[in-house]
Amino acid sequence: MPQSDPAVPAHGGELSHAPVPAPASVAAPAAAEAPASGAAVRHGLLCLGLAAFWAASAWTAAHVRAAPPLHTAALLVHLVSLVAGFGAVLAVDYVGTLWLLGRRTLCQVLDLAAPLHVPIWGGLAGLTLSGVLLEPHLDSGLTQLKLVLVLLIALNGVQAGALQRRLERYGEQRPPRPLLLRGGLSALVSQLGWWGALLIGFYNAQR
Ligand code: HEM
Repeated sequence: MPQSDPAVPAHGGELSHAPVPAPASVAAPAAAEAPASGAAVRHGLLCLGLAAFWAASAWTAAHVRAAPPLHTAALLVHLVSLVAGFGAVLAVDYVGTLWLLGRRTLCQVLDLAAPLHVPIWGGLAGLTLSGVLLEPHLDSGLTQLKLVLVLLIALNGVQAGALQRRLERYGEQRPPRPLLLRGGLSALVSQLGWWGALLIGFYNAQR
């Protein structure tokens, strides 16, 4: 695990300080990180694909009737996917908070987050596929809000992945403030989306 350069610690404790002039080693990645048009196109296509998958699952949910055993199995998959996906999100955000408190380096946060993309995206896909078989009441405003939150989580995840790749270029150097703010905003959107969908699902199940 790489250790932080004490001269320029890459943790959030620096955030409260006055801006530090970027050393050459920071300026270089910043200059090199102008979004390549190829990457922008890939992200756009990925977002379109996710939106299409989301719309197709909502359409299917309106037309599918699951037999009781299948419904029960889908509920189990829904809960397992929730544990995997949201559990991984909470782990990343917890270590991110430790970084903001100056108790982890940015490299440590990024190292932890990298392999957790699989359970996060797998969990979200599992929630969506199993949710289709749970016969959601699509005419309910709360359920519609829940589905919008799910799309928001997915699109936010795409830009969070791109942001993570940009942050990785800074190694142990402190990234510029706009990137850090974007990271904080992205974590906030993710938390609101996951908690919102979870609470709506729980509330719907009680009715
Ligand atoms: C981030 C994504 C999601 C989260 C966190 C989430 C969370 C939950 C939770 C906590 C429950 C309650 C389970 C119980 O106590 O029995 C639930 C139920 C349910 N979820 Fe999800 N869910 C998500 C995505 C989806 C999606 C995409 C769909 C539909 C396509 C869906 C459809 C349902 C349905 C129909 C129920 C059963 C509600 C009822 O019993 O009336 N969920 N969900």
